[in-house]
This record gives sequence, structure tokens and C-alpha cells, in this order.
Amino acid sequence: MTDTTTDGTSETRSAGTGTVTVSINGADVTIDEGATLLDACNAAGVSTPTLCYAENLTPVNACRVCVVEVEKSRTLVPSCSRAAEDGMVVQTDSSRVRHSRKMVLEFLDSGVDLSQTSTLGVGEDAISLADWAAEYDVDSSRYGPAAEKIDEEIKIQDNLYIRDYDKCVLCYKCVEACGDDAQHTFAIAVSGRGFGARISTEFDVSLPDSACVYCGNCVAVCPTNALQFKTEFDLRQADNWRETEQTVTRTVCSYCGVGCNLELHVQDDTIVKVTSPNDHSVTSGHLCIKGRFGWQYVQPTITRQNPAPQPEA
Ligand code: SF4
Ligand code: SF4
Ligand code: FES
Repeated sequence: MTDTTTDGTSETRSAGTGTVTVSINGADVTIDEGATLLDACNAAGVSTPTLCYAENLTPVNACRVCVVEVEKSRTLVPSCSRAAEDGMVVQTDSSRVRHSRKMVLEFLDSGVDLSQTSTLGVGEDAISLADWAAEYDVDSSRYGPAAEKIDEEIKIQDNLYIRDYDKCVLCYKCVEACGDDAQHTFAIAVSGRGFGARISTEFDVSLPDSACVYCGNCVAVCPTNALQFKTEFDLRQADNWRETEQTVTRTVCSYCGVGCNLELHVQDDTIVKVTSPNDHSVTSGHLCIKGRFGWQYVQPTITRQNPAPQPEA
């Protein structure tokens, strides 16, 4: 096929099939043009740990736990953002990859509280942090008891969500969700450098004084529970957060005509948090304050539980 370029010259390229074929650990997989190496790994049935990646956000390559080795590439590449090219030869389990993933997980574990990071990965490919730690023989204790840990007071400034930055891995997901990937509010960003880097509002003002509009989209994408619904936080404090017993019911938000889908997480007949499915074309996992936090009106009230006696007919 011959194309004419903007400067009037012509170039030749083969007729595109719309697909590319790459080798993942020796097995060929064919995926759509424009797909990433992470997509190729998923197509090949190879699980990949991810932390800063989310289906509904632009990859920022912050964590590097998803790196793979590409033949003829000098450095390891982040699979979550690297586009697959025809003929690429990729190894996901080489000693370089294993060593790099182990180091990333150990460094994070040595400085940050990962106790509420349940899984690494996305959707059905997500695997527990404990399993990945075992897979890569993670042992952060080898950095010694003096390894510096993030140690800050939990920020509780309202009844909607809390911020516990001891758990923050600086994955940038909340910044992306608050910024041009979803909310376009830009209330939070990374301030400081090195070990002092933190997610912060402008001039570190409290959330109610910031530009935050309480959509909660940052909370929904946080992989470590550094941002946490206040309802969940309170139940965890009371040692009563029983996630495995919770039901999740999908419904449609009734506040306006946009039609966002809601997932109601219910424990003991009480809504404990609201999320939105990533695969829904209207929301892509994001909501506004009303859909996310305005659910108390459907909770059982004292009046409903103990209706006043009615006069006999
Ligand atoms: S608060 Fe959560 S989403 Fe934001 S950077 Fe930290 S870990 Fe990532
Ligand atoms: S979540 Fe907000 S935008 Fe979506 S339907 Fe409800 S009120 Fe409308
Ligand atoms: S998941 Fe790919 S760089 Fe973080």
C-alpha cells in the first residue's frame, strides 16, 4: 500500500490487519493494534502484578511493578503502558523481571503500610499481595528495623472519607481521577520530593477548604486504602468490617438523568459504601457526590424499624 504524506512524498507500508502478534514467554498471541503488553500478557493467560494501573485511568508508570523484558530493549519496560508491536519477544519471568518486581515490592513494603492492599492486578487477573510476595520471595525485613516508615496522623476532616497516607504508595491514581481522567477538579497533587513526597491539597489545606467536590472518585481508585470511605474506616476501627459477608447489588442512581450505575455494598442490611462498575459506558467507574455518598435516605430509619402504632379501624 502506498500513502502520500503531508510533505508530498510517498511511503510504503504493508496493509494493516488491525492486529499484532507478540511472543509472551515463547507463546505467540495475537491482539488488536494499539493494545499494550499487559493486554498481551492477559491474552496469553500470564498474570501480571499492577498497582498504579487502572482500566479507567491513563497509565502513569509510577510503580513499575508490572515490568517485563523485551528482546533488544536495554531497560525493562512497564507492560501497562507499552504498546505491543508486531514481532516483539517478551519475557515476564526472567531473572531481571523477577529481581525488579521483588525490589519494587520490598521497597514499598519497607516504607508503607500495605496491610489493606488486598490484591495487585485488575479484575479477574488480580492476585493477592501475599501471593505475589511469596512468588518473588519478598522480605522487606532485610532492610532492617531502622528502615524509615511513613508515619503521619490519619486525616479525618469530614464524614465522607478519610486519608491515611501511611498507606500511600504514590501511585498517582487519585491525582489522575481528580484531574483530567475523570473529575477535572484538580484538588490534589503530589507535593514535596523524595521521601517527603505526599499527596496534598493546595497548600495542604483541609479537604473542606480545598477545591474537593467530594465525588469520591479518588477513593474508588486507591489500591491501598490510603483513601477510605468513613463508613469502612469506622467499621474497621470497631473490628467489624466483614467484606466477605457483604453483598453487592447493582442499581441505577435515581438523582438525575445521567443514569450512572451504582454498586451498593451491604453489610448487616446497611449500605457501607457505594462504587460504580468500571465497565459501564456512562460512568467508567466514576460518580458524583450524590450517587457516591447520598444513600442514607434508603437506609432503615428508626421509624421504619419501629413504626408508630396505627389507630384501629
Ligand atoms: S492516596 Fe491512594 S490513589 Fe492516591 S497516590 Fe496514594 S495510594 Fe495512590
Ligand atoms: S451519580 Fe451523580 S451524575 Fe450520576 S446519575 Fe447520580 S446524580 Fe447523576
Ligand atoms: S502498573 Fe505498570 S507501572 Fe505501575
